Amino acid sequence: MVLAIEWVELPQPTIRLIDQTLLPAEEKYIDVRTVDVLVKAIKDLAVRGAPALGAAGALGVAMALYQAQRESWDDTRLETEIDRIRDARPTAINLAWGVNQVRHLVGQGVEVVTEAAKKVVADDTTANKELSRFGADWILAKVGKEKVRVNTHCNTGALATTAQGTAYGIIRELFERGAIEMVYADETRPLLQGARLTSWELTQDGIPHVVQVDGAASSTILRGLVDVAIIGADRIAANGDSANKVGSVALALACQRAGIPFIVAAPSSTIDLDTSSGEDINIELRDDAEVLELGGQRTAPREAKGYNPAFDVTPHDLISAIVTERGIVEPAHESDPRLLARVAD
Ligand code: MRU
Repeated sequence: MVLAIEWVELPQPTIRLIDQTLLPAEEKYIDVRTVDVLVKAIKDLAVRGAPALGAAGALGVAMALYQAQRESWDDTRLETEIDRIRDARPTAINLAWGVNQVRHLVGQGVEVVTEAAKKVVADDTTANKELSRFGADWILAKVGKEKVRVNTHCNTGALATTAQGTAYGIIRELFERGAIEMVYADETRPLLQGARLTSWELTQDGIPHVVQVDGAASSTILRGLVDVAIIGADRIAANGDSANKVGSVALALACQRAGIPFIVAAPSSTIDLDTSSGEDINIELRDDAEVLELGGQRTAPREAKGYNPAFDVTPHDLISAIVTERGIVEPAHESDPRLLARVAD
């Protein structure tokens, strides 16, 4: 299984990222030793996916401390640089969460911060495994079939986390139990995380799948070709409203109409109890060019302007289950405004 993000000590403390902008054509790694390079990698989506961003945030603080030592930064400069990491992308709460997990330890020195950051990574790995088991159990009990057909959106696998993945982790767990018939992987416009990354992981794992355009998903569900949709999350509000890659909410609406479960899988680090509902989630707007061009070639008229929200919010009443490593809540059946407090970090 590929590692999206890793801390390597030699020849000097480094964050090693697989460059996800180049996959699946090229497997190339970026060795990050400066805040500038890390912030660019995050903005460009060389490292991406909420839990991997959490790891990047925590390891990024450790790396910034090493850079501060090399370049003799004062405290103000260090704080500014840590803020730049935290703010590199706005929607996935895990990035700020990862930074905040270790930032308060800065006064105790670089070794303490580095160990705490490595623990953030290790805890995410454990969470992936736990929630994958919970999710597979829940789905098999609910769907009542020996083999299930799954629709998923974006990439939630090893590339998006520190281990086997969240929604993808459940798919992998189901596959290992002999319980996957077919995975419909949405291509996930505009940056094609589904076609480029999820299909790459599914291929490596030998999991039967097809890639479909995002616009096909709701029809595939309504035609009865899918038993369950499983997606990840970038931020889950206290009431269960969940932000994920744009296009997710269309799956949720189709699942409700078809009467099949719609599952959100995420570690508890993705839950943000300070955000009371989806209305308060800051949705990242990305460059128009991602929509108006394909492979660097302009597809829309020169005069056209784009609209490129990277995420959407699925209202909690459309979500059958939110699966975390701390247990499962079923928002569609409850209206508690602090529902997620039960499983939050
Ligand atoms: O813009 P991205 O590629 O970072 O978006 C990622 C997603 O939307 C994922 O589904 C989400 O972060 C969950 S990853 C386990």
